[in-house]
Amino acid sequence: MLTIALSKGKMLDLTLDVFRRAGYALGSLSTESRRLVFPCPEIGMTFLIVRPTDVPTYVEYGAADVGIVGKDVLMEQDSDVYEPLDLGFGACRIAVAALKGQASRDRLSSKIRVATKYPKITERYFNQRGVPVEIVKLYGSIELAPLVGLADRIVDLVETGSTLKAHNLVEVDCIAQSTARLVVNRASLKLKHAVVTELIKQLRAVSCTPTGSRTSVPRKSSRGARRTVRRTRK
Ligand code: PRP
Repeated sequence: MLTIALSKGKMLDLTLDVFRRAGYALGSLSTESRRLVFPCPEIGMTFLIVRPTDVPTYVEYGAADVGIVGKDVLMEQDSDVYEPLDLGFGACRIAVAALKGQASRDRLSSKIRVATKYPKITERYFNQRGVPVEIVKLYGSIELAPLVGLADRIVDLVETGSTLKAHNLVEVDCIAQSTARLVVNRASLKLKHAVVTELIKQLRAVSCTPTGSRTSVPRKSSRGARRTVRRTRK
């Protein structure tokens, strides 16, 4: 039996669609339900519906063997999980944005204040550029911060760009692209190797990227796996 942690919210419908296209009968699993656990014994899987930011934790601790989560979350958390497959859907970018007309740095000598859900990504980005920043951690509606003087910049996800536009904000820089990733618990990759690799194969066949590109190569031998599988931890 495989336990799979799925990200609730925007990505859930897309994730369920990918599983269904890969031939997995998901029975009563629906985005409308308030249930958090969906056993699907006929396909040998149990699905957990969790917050996107909690998916890496469930997988790292082995409460789930596998998870589906955005690259943005993985970049922020540096979790100790394998990341064998880019599923291609949920494409967006992690971008720096500012109010129109204030996109060039105007206060070189003083810290700029940046509001974000991604403090680690933000700190890394500005540190690499030698720009002193004060980071204001928010949990949502990030676009509001520059409007009310809470921050000079934001770092947030941009998909269509319509939320930025609606708040008179412009993109200053793109930090990284993000898509949905399949992540695997380190022990599960060894102990449930056959079912995990079968799942990867089936999902790769229906993924949105041209080749269902691998971000690492799961191997059966533990020594081989240690050497060749790239983890998300930097
Ligand atoms: C996300 C993101 C942006 C918006 C971008 O927010 O944080 O606000 O989507 O999408 P767009 O470029 O297509 O407009 P989400 O809806 O997840 O809510 P949140 O602001 O509460 O995080």
